[in-house]
Amino acid sequence: MSKEIIVSGIRPTGNLHLGNYLGAVNNFIKMQYEHHCYFFIADYHSLTTHPNPADLHNNVKQVLVEYLACGLDPESCTLYIQSDLPQIPELYMMLNMHANLGELERVASFKDKARTQPNNINAGLLTYPVLMAADIIIHKATKVPVGKDQEQHLEMARTFGNRFNRVYQKEIFPEPFAFNYGNELIKIPGLQGGGKMSKSDGDGNVINLIDTPEVIRKKMSKAVTDAGATEPNTLPTVPVQNLFDIMKLVSTQDKLKHYQDLYASCSIRYGDFKKDLAEDMIVYLQPIREKISDIQQNENLLKKVARIGKEKASESANKTLKECREAIGFRSF
Ligand code: TYM
Repeated sequence: MSKEIIVSGIRPTGNLHLGNYLGAVNNFIKMQYEHHCYFFIADYHSLTTHPNPADLHNNVKQVLVEYLACGLDPESCTLYIQSDLPQIPELYMMLNMHANLGELERVASFKDKARTQPNNINAGLLTYPVLMAADIIIHKATKVPVGKDQEQHLEMARTFGNRFNRVYQKEIFPEPFAFNYGNELIKIPGLQGGGKMSKSDGDGNVINLIDTPEVIRKKMSKAVTDAGATEPNTLPTVPVQNLFDIMKLVSTQDKLKHYQDLYASCSIRYGDFKKDLAEDMIVYLQPIREKISDIQQNENLLKKVARIGKEKASESANKTLKECREAIGFRSF
């Protein structure tokens, strides 16, 4: 199998949750041994919401710790912090010159944010997909392991890379595609009955990788279901289907079938169902949670990983940026 170039990142907004893990990080771990992988912490992206400087540093550190605890191996992949690479904002600026206001305003994530945070519709938010394209194409990636919510951003990355090639008549960038081993991209639902698992809907909506068994049991006991099936063999309602979707990924197929059969015969007891799912989540996440607390103490390891990652990622980024500068017509005297 020929090796491809893989890029992906996560914004540092606190602890990683089960959606980040099942939608993205799980694939990072598999891909790192098969391809040339660049995984990073997207701290420039998090600036759209103006984090307080002390929080930003801690959040970056936390994602680095959690990446390592999940099994990212800095010997096998390149693991770095986005703001360690000034090449990325330089490429972002170049791509911005060919990004149209109309196409940026039509992006679903922008429209969504403009609606939910009307007092902070900044230019960084508008050009967020351009920065994301720069992250991806700076290493000439062809595959990007992400969850379903990032699909449109990948389409934009292809658009901006292709446009640059066309404008400057050079084949610099290949097309990057969202990737989940040939399967549909994943969307892990939240616990509050609708939408995706996301911190922006509050901590009760997410299961964090660091949540203790007690916290997981408590959150799951509050997870939204419905009033109970009354007609046999009907399709589950959205909140119940959401819990089945999570069970599909963390429990055995036999257990999933057991509860699906109980649902179909209108005899499911949601209390038991949620308790059982909570116990499986606890078992699933326990090895990661244990490693998080070990790695958190190891400042030397974190420093070393960030330094080596910066060196390796810069080497690749410098090569691409040199081609872009030449294509544009920047020459030294
Ligand atoms: P972010 O930080 O919101 O999420 C990081 C990754 O986790 C996935 N994810 C989910 N997958 C399934 N179900 C969920 N509920 C769920 N919640 C989050 C996301 O799809 C993503 O893969 N813009 C990106 C970060 C980024 C990036 C990049 C990603 C910046 N530059 C370049 C890939 C390549 C973001 O905000 O993801």
